Amino acid sequence: MSGRAMLEVTSLAKSYQSRNGTTDAIADVSFRVASGEFVCVVGPSGCGKTTLLKCLAGLLSPTAGEVQLNGEPVRRPPPNMAFVFQDYSNSMLPWLRVENNITFPLRHKGVSADRRAALAEETLRVVGLGEFARHYPWQLSGGMQQRVAIARALAYEPEILLMDEPFASVDAQTRSDLEDLLLDVWARYGVTTVFVTHDIDESVYLADRVFVLNDRPSTVQMEVPVELPRPRDQITTKELTEFTKLRTEVMRTIKHARRSRSDEERMGQA
Ligand SMILES: Nc1ncnc2c1ncn2[C@@H]1O[C@H](COP(=O)(O)OP(=O)(O)O)[C@@H](O)[C@H]1O
Ligand SMILES: [Mg+2]
Repeated sequence: MSGRAMLEVTSLAKSYQSRNGTTDAIADVSFRVASGEFVCVVGPSGCGKTTLLKCLAGLLSPTAGEVQLNGEPVRRPPPNMAFVFQDYSNSMLPWLRVENNITFPLRHKGVSADRRAALAEETLRVVGLGEFARHYPWQLSGGMQQRVAIARALAYEPEILLMDEPFASVDAQTRSDLEDLLLDVWARYGVTTVFVTHDIDESVYLADRVFVLNDRPSTVQMEVPVELPRPRDQITTKELTEFTKLRTEVMRTIKHARRSRSDEERMGQA
């Protein structure tokens, strides 16, 4: 990583306590993200990706270790951070029009009414939904609602954007459109982005660097720098030999992590 670290995760661990005992979700995760960087965190289902993101967001407190944003420890959701979650159907307020869903968080931030309206107008245009400002969320398709969620996150003018498998519940075509839209707006706004996914191709296609987590309790198994040229393109980028090499490298790492884990389990039983 070159440049100043905006986000710094140091020896982060997280265990959940419940009546059924302790679940160790994250064992030991450290990484740094530079200002303006796009990083992806990829790993198998249940490996602790959402847990990690919630710790980054200050929504969960780590069992050990620390998260720092601009040199300050994160203990609650920082004001300069925005999130996009997987489940768009729960992320919109159904009784508010699309434009008001976007301006709603801005009121709490103390943004003036004129500026709120301008931000909603601009971000909806950027995500291709300029015509839908007066619609209600339930009048839009899943992919469109997810674009509203992206617009809302951008309108917030965050320094850092956290996304948790945001495109997991849309069809393949919409998904690749949303990936390209995200790369466009990332290039335009330069917002530091941490994007969680279980999709290896998606991680390589989007990121400057990919952090590969292994199975729970997770650690960063490998960091893969992605030096594919930008702007990227769903067809030409994915045709590059370098793309295939990178996705194979990530895939092999995940497979290897799983194999060594099941070996350990077998040894443990012996
Ligand atoms: N609130 C919770 N209480 C207890 N266990 C949890 C809780 N949230 C997640 N877990 C467990 O922690 C592990 C990691 O979960 P999660 O971070 O959601 O993984 P991922 O997002 O990679 O699928 C899983 O085994 C999950 O069952
Ligand atoms: Mg998750």
